Amino acid sequence: MAAPEPTSGTSPLVQPDLPLPSANTSPRYDPQKVTVVYILGGPGSGKGTQSEYLVRDYGFVHLSAGDLLRAEQDNENSQYGQLIKDYIKDGLIVPMEITVNLLSNAIEDKLGSDGTGKFLVDGFPRKLDQALFFEQSVCVSKCTLFLDCPEDVMRERLLNRGKTSGRSDDNEESIIKRFRTFVETSMPVVDLFEKEGRVITVSAVGSVGEVYEGVVGGLASKGIAPTNK
Ligand code: ADP
Ligand code: C5P
Ligand code: MG
Repeated sequence: MAAPEPTSGTSPLVQPDLPLPSANTSPRYDPQKVTVVYILGGPGSGKGTQSEYLVRDYGFVHLSAGDLLRAEQDNENSQYGQLIKDYIKDGLIVPMEITVNLLSNAIEDKLGSDGTGKFLVDGFPRKLDQALFFEQSVCVSKCTLFLDCPEDVMRERLLNRGKTSGRSDDNEESIIKRFRTFVETSMPVVDLFEKEGRVITVSAVGSVGEVYEGVVGGLASKGIAPTNK
């Protein structure tokens, strides 16, 4: 008998045995020294594309949660390779301990010798538990850039990307699942940060340059200016 279709971003698969923060854990990094800006948006909204420009102009270190998971999936020494592969193909959110640990290690690797750093965290947090775990145990974020994009535009971009990306999830079947996970599981994170006044919403429709103009304007409204121009 075929396995039942998952009905939400919550996974039926086994949870890895990694530590959770206790209620009185304080974040590993002080937000005065480590700046974390999240970039969120549906699959194909242009997060990776806009991130390249933000790295160039603002001096961010770019950390894509999806890229870190794909590297871990291909790491022969990882015990989570097959699990990550299955979750990604099904458009489900990988158990948060894995993703938060990968991000936390990547931040540690890229910190300056004075313990400071400026990180653009792409495609994260995609679920409320990831958001709470990261903010409690790693670092409180400064703000979230949210790329607002209709599904028909994202679908076209993803199918186009799928011609050359080699990604297991840039196909019609996975895209439908990813859209559902985005609406049901990831949008509540954006809604929560929005209630806290910590979201910059930018339209992701239009050319890359037009979207970037909105991104720059949005960051300026929060007092974040380019550093490398
Ligand atoms: P995400 O990281 O949000 O999944 P990407 O940055 O990988 O999205 O973009 C998805 C695809 O759409 C890529 O092939 C990219 O080149 C293309 N793309 C990104 N932004 C635009 C845009 N504004 N207009 C047209 N195509 C775009
Ligand atoms: O961001 P990207 O599209 O590269 O993510 C690919 C996949 O990686 C997601 O569909 C999801 O399966 C997984 N992922 C995750 N948690 C994140 C980011 C990505 O589980 N925060
Ligand atoms: Mg991406």
